[in-house]
Amino acid sequence: MHFQWYPGHMTKAKRMMQENIKLIDLVIELVDARIPMSSRNPDIDELGKNKARLILLNKSDLAEDRWNDAWAEFFKQKGYAVVKVNSKKGGGMKSIQNVIQEACKEKIERDRKRGILNRPVRAMVVGIPNVGKSTFINSLAGKACAKTGNKPGVTKGKQWIRLNKNVELLDTPGILWPKFEDQMVGQRLAFIGSIKDEILNIEELSAEMITFMREYYPGVLAEKYAITEEEDSYATLSEIARSRHCLVRGNELDTEKAAALFVDDFRNGRLGRITLEFPEQYC
Ligand code: G4P
Repeated sequence: MHFQWYPGHMTKAKRMMQENIKLIDLVIELVDARIPMSSRNPDIDELGKNKARLILLNKSDLAEDRWNDAWAEFFKQKGYAVVKVNSKKGGGMKSIQNVIQEACKEKIERDRKRGILNRPVRAMVVGIPNVGKSTFINSLAGKACAKTGNKPGVTKGKQWIRLNKNVELLDTPGILWPKFEDQMVGQRLAFIGSIKDEILNIEELSAEMITFMREYYPGVLAEKYAITEEEDSYATLSEIARSRHCLVRGNELDTEKAAALFVDDFRNGRLGRITLEFPEQYC
């Protein structure tokens, strides 16, 4: 299968990011903990140079925790501050405030030397579509915060959310599109649902996911669907169809329906916590 990214309003989004990045001290980059590298856009390092950087391993509830820790270490080694989060349930939010102060300590020190005291850190959330940016902003900001409205020196219409006296967050996240020439990256993005399913062949996609599962998580499908994991992924898909009574008229197996069901189980964590890429692949 050949994976292609869907065209979006890329130029507009990139321009918006370039404009906004000038206003901020800290880039909070969300990545999907199941594919921390494949869900990054390489442009962000260029866009965010000279800024403090924080990487959030979001959806960490869907990835294996030992790999979440390994990825956190991987990014820390590269000089990023890192926090594992579950934006949906609010996990990891408490430690973020401290990590932000720590990540911005050079800026705070610079301000202090210039006699500027208590100027809040300004942060922007960025990430690829569907990585959880809005969920994260809502979770971090909660109900307590008030939008601070327009400010002098800030492009008209921009809203800042005051998290506390130390941190302000731009309320619109920066959308980055993933970029890939490597088909493995495309495949992983398709696995987590970041490439529109309409342009994918769902049976082919599920066969590839089954191949991955058999290699890295053997036995999980057998247990979940009470089936035998066959050598051939399409045979396993038929087994899933049989086990889940996915049938078309005449009692024929409906493998397309089984594929959709399996892909949905996978993406929603019903097969357990699954990490799709590993730091050693990037060392
Ligand atoms: P975006 O702004 O970056 O495009 O992403 P958004 O916040 O809309 O989140 C995309 C989907 O990811 C949402 O699911 C959201 O609930 C889910 N999500 C965000 N953070 C987490 C997390 O840490 N863990 C898990 N498990 N899911 C997360 P949805 O299917 O669009 O909606 P719903 O399932 O919440 O109804």
